[in-house]
Amino acid sequence: MLSWEESTPLSAVKPMGLMPQTPMAKMPAASITPSSQPAPDADRRDDRRVRVEDKRIINGASDVNQLVPFKYKWAWDKYLATCANHWMPQEISMGRDIALWKSADGLTEDERRLVKRNLGFFVTADSLAANNIVLGTYRHISAPECRQFLLRQAFEEAIHTHAYQYITESLGLDEGEIFNAYHEVKSIRDKDEFLIPFIDTLTNPHFNTGTTENDQKLLRSLIVFACLMEGLFFYVGFVQILALGRQNKMTGAAEQYQYILRDESMHCNFGIDLINTIKLENPHLWTPAFREEIRGLFMQAVELEYAYAEDTMPRGVLGLNASMFKGYLRFIANRRAQQIGLDPLFAHEENPFPWMSEMIDLKKERNFFETRVIEYQTGGALSWD
Ligand SMILES: [Fe+2]
Ligand SMILES: [Fe+2]
Repeated sequence: MLSWEESTPLSAVKPMGLMPQTPMAKMPAASITPSSQPAPDADRRDDRRVRVEDKRIINGASDVNQLVPFKYKWAWDKYLATCANHWMPQEISMGRDIALWKSADGLTEDERRLVKRNLGFFVTADSLAANNIVLGTYRHISAPECRQFLLRQAFEEAIHTHAYQYITESLGLDEGEIFNAYHEVKSIRDKDEFLIPFIDTLTNPHFNTGTTENDQKLLRSLIVFACLMEGLFFYVGFVQILALGRQNKMTGAAEQYQYILRDESMHCNFGIDLINTIKLENPHLWTPAFREEIRGLFMQAVELEYAYAEDTMPRGVLGLNASMFKGYLRFIANRRAQQIGLDPLFAHEENPFPWMSEMIDLKKERNFFETRVIEYQTGGALSWD
């Protein structure tokens, strides 16, 4: 039986607005709406001004409405970088993909299965990610620079869900089959069931940080989300569609996956910076027992993602096979572990898909830019005529 309904289903979590436990709400009301209580000069409360040294990633007491003075410049820089990478799915033509999908011998049955399973995971994964940010993580982070990034990240997750829906609709796939895959396909359901408890922790309206136990719960959920969901569970799927694109198949879908990969790689890096800064500010959370538990979660996630690779490629396709992914997943898991200060989990793993690094470093394609410029010029001409 699925656990979706057993604990706190995401759909049941009501919009929270300003929860009483938000850092802002802990402060005197006057500091939230200073203009409502004008103080005479003699009574000026300069001590209400945000000081850099008072800011904290979690459990901060400084006003979350004041973006500056900056303390976490890395978060602001990443926010600016994600904005510079803005894109929208409908800017990319699906014409060639549609022709290929409709042609009887355009793709093999194994390639079609791969595409459907792939979309089956992603069409709901990014909604889970968005809900986790908006209804969970955001509320527990008290640094406004980091909240600013999370706001942008939430919108990007909406763009990703839009992209997967756009591809599904363009190809004329059975939407019921694709959107219900997370209930009906075991390898996808298992990955989501692994994630749900960690998301539920943060979205539970009764959950607050401020104790060692709860701060560790938050840190655990952040690690699962950044390192294992965005940093590992997405990668078999990304390699598959990008491998199709490299063989000149499903190029419209592949171009969108390239942009998504670039976004996710930024989300993952932000999450890792967030985790490492929380560790620096709260070293008592990073106990040997906690580290051991995280290593166990990494091992579990590698197994789940490998099972997904086997299910989506039972016979090997596109020159890829599931066992190549075993090496790749171990390589990524090692990298994620090291990025948060854990020892590598597996010995001597190398990247069997070095071309993936080039995909992550993608600069926008020239024709992508040109399309957009032409659209703006057309719009301008219409409005002035
Ligand atoms: Fe996403
Ligand atoms: Fe993401």
